Amino acid sequence: MGKATFLFVGVGKGGVGKTTTAVSLAGSLARRGYRVLLIDGDRSMNAGASLAVTNPAPESYIDLLHAHLHRTRPPFPIQNAVSKTAFPGLDLLCGTAKRGADHITLWSRVEWGLGETGQFPLFGKLLAPLMSAYDFMVYDAPPNVEGAINIGALICADYVVSPIEADYYCLSGTRDLRQNIDGITSRFRPRPPEQFIFLVKYAKARTLHSAIAEGLKSDPQWGKRFLDAPIGNRSRELMDALYERAPLCYASRPGQSAAEYEALTDELLRRIGG
Ligand SMILES: Nc1ncnc2c1ncn2[C@@H]1O[C@H](COP(=O)(O)OP(=O)(O)O)[C@@H](O)[C@H]1O
Ligand SMILES: [Mg+2]
Repeated sequence: MGKATFLFVGVGKGGVGKTTTAVSLAGSLARRGYRVLLIDGDRSMNAGASLAVTNPAPESYIDLLHAHLHRTRPPFPIQNAVSKTAFPGLDLLCGTAKRGADHITLWSRVEWGLGETGQFPLFGKLLAPLMSAYDFMVYDAPPNVEGAINIGALICADYVVSPIEADYYCLSGTRDLRQNIDGITSRFRPRPPEQFIFLVKYAKARTLHSAIAEGLKSDPQWGKRFLDAPIGNRSRELMDALYERAPLCYASRPGQSAAEYEALTDELLRRIGG
């Protein structure tokens, strides 16, 4: 069995559609028969909350990192942090087994401990036993790109997948992320992960949006990284799927955004040779 392809879904900005993209991509890949692990990389734990879970994990990977760093308890198998979801082939690696203030403190201590001791690759080392059990790992990143767990995930990443809105802040955030990816990963690996960008909350009829899309497509730096499969502005359909705790392709009434995320999954698979 091969090693999972690690997709890091992040962009260095909040509220763009990272979690929506991570959950939708993970669902679409699983529906195509791939074995997928969705990793909750944000302490808000929105990715986990977006999915119906059938067998909740008794532990979390944050607990495991904490056990390694602070030795307050013996480390346990990473498999204990894997929840089964209601969707065949789609598992969830939990950042928490229990929500609450204690968990936030624990997460901060882990981030601090990893940073203080410079053990950024520990996250990837702990994931290693799961690598052959999955075809894809999909990591849902937090808004900030500098967190220690995030750096650990970037070290493992085969590809960075960045949803971007057609606005100035998002474009400059994407440039910053690119520099961070190069800067961070050059300390730990010979080459940085390849990055793909695509537009979300996109309205073709808006002149500004289509001008930005055309600009990105023909840009010498971004053109080769641009996935020409935009996602429209469709908050209602997304909220319905979220309410059902289902990835878009499993929603009871899949609509336009489900079809758009299918097209994005096709385009991504085509580009990475999947
Ligand atoms: N394509 C879209 N069209 C409209 N609303 C969207 C779209 N993608 C995400 N949203 C909404 O934007 C908000 C933030 O999305 P989310 O995926 O949680 O972003 P992030 O993880 O980047 O913070 C959510 O309310 C979500 O439903
Ligand atoms: Mg999010």
